[in-house]
Amino acid sequence: MAVNLHKLKERIAEGERFTCLTAYDSTFADLVSSNGVDIILVGDSLGMVVQGKESTLPVTMQDMCYHTQAVANGNQGALVMADMPFMSYQDEATALINAGKLMQAGANLVKLEGGAWLADTVTQLRRNGVPSCVHMGLTPQSVNVFGGFRVQGRQRDAAERMISDAHTVAEAGADILLLECVPSALAKRIVEEVNLPVIGIGAGTATQGQVLVSYDMLGLGSHRKPKFVKDFMAECDTPAQAIQKFVSDVKNGSFPAAEHEFS
Ligand code: KIV
Repeated sequence: MAVNLHKLKERIAEGERFTCLTAYDSTFADLVSSNGVDIILVGDSLGMVVQGKESTLPVTMQDMCYHTQAVANGNQGALVMADMPFMSYQDEATALINAGKLMQAGANLVKLEGGAWLADTVTQLRRNGVPSCVHMGLTPQSVNVFGGFRVQGRQRDAAERMISDAHTVAEAGADILLLECVPSALAKRIVEEVNLPVIGIGAGTATQGQVLVSYDMLGLGSHRKPKFVKDFMAECDTPAQAIQKFVSDVKNGSFPAAEHEFS
């Protein structure tokens, strides 16, 4: 049965854990969605894993629309979440135009990187029929500000700011939060204090959802994998089995394990 945001939120409210994997084309969208994954993320990580770039910054709206359409064509009933690429949401008007393009390409919701400064944008998107996910913590589009791909929120003031930002975007109407590379204790506080479903990647076990880049969890590519990645192909015979294992491990709480967490 097709996943929709309302039903997914009901399942999460009943204590169910949910899953998200990236896909950038119709074959992967079919594979991921027909093996139990709730949300397909058309991530701007495609800049690195598909285009071979050093970061996500070169990814354009044209790229995102092309890949979102391809994913929508192969999707078997998962929610499709499309990333708004670098500099596609720097003000509300630009965000509305670009989010509209992604929705017309087949997205069911959009993901934006940032914090409290996104509140008005999130409200406007919702008014115009666009659900949103706000990505906090290590936001790869800000890699040049961070000086590298580093864990975020380790200092007390940064952690308090992230919690406050999470409250602000929740009140503004965001539907989902995504936390990347934050200490598990901070992610736990956000899950406990903020009334939104949270997807984690390198954020420990407290978040209700988990996301990974599909190529990473299938052991593809020769690049060094971040600590939070598990290669599910190492213990499975086929990509379909590896995805099913990811789904069952997230649901039964065995992924992520302590070795995938940050303190
Ligand atoms: O672009 C992406 O794949 C992402 C995930 C790493 C969360 O944003």
